[in-house]
Amino acid sequence: MFEGERPTGTKPQIYRELSLMAEGLFRGERDPIANAANLSALLWMGLTDLNWAGFYFLRKTVLVLGPFQGKPACVRIEPGKGVCGSAAAQKKCLIVPDVEAFPGHIACDIASRSELVVPLLQGGRLAGVLDLDSPSRARFDDEDARGIETLAALWVAASDPI
Ligand code: SME
Repeated sequence: MFEGERPTGTKPQIYRELSLMAEGLFRGERDPIANAANLSALLWMGLTDLNWAGFYFLRKTVLVLGPFQGKPACVRIEPGKGVCGSAAAQKKCLIVPDVEAFPGHIACDIASRSELVVPLLQGGRLAGVLDLDSPSRARFDDEDARGIETLAALWVAASDPI
């Protein structure tokens, strides 16, 4: 159904291409889990130098593991804990160039060296986070943050509330 190859070019070009692919995958589908699963797979396929890409969803007061690609991960993260919980608590995108220097980082995969976490906001309400991990230090910059925020916003717009 999906024969996409890894996009090439500058980071903005790669994210533009991934956004078009995501819109194609989401078209006609409003199930948030299905769309999150496909977005995880798209990120895994489309970006280099990742060791984890996926979702945590806010369930009552805790973040719970959603669809992802990579090694099995910790299932529950309290708001304020780790990079994911901090991004959730602050409703703010976090770029962590060196996870070993981030107090309270939760090491789900010991290979992770840097991390990018983008909050998922449905009408201002926190729905969860989209988390990317890399085995390289300083893998993520502002262009990655803008690109992943755009993809996260496409997921929110395309999907029913989780
Ligand atoms: N490292 C994250 C935990 C999630 S895993 O990386 C998949 C954190 O500190 O919140």
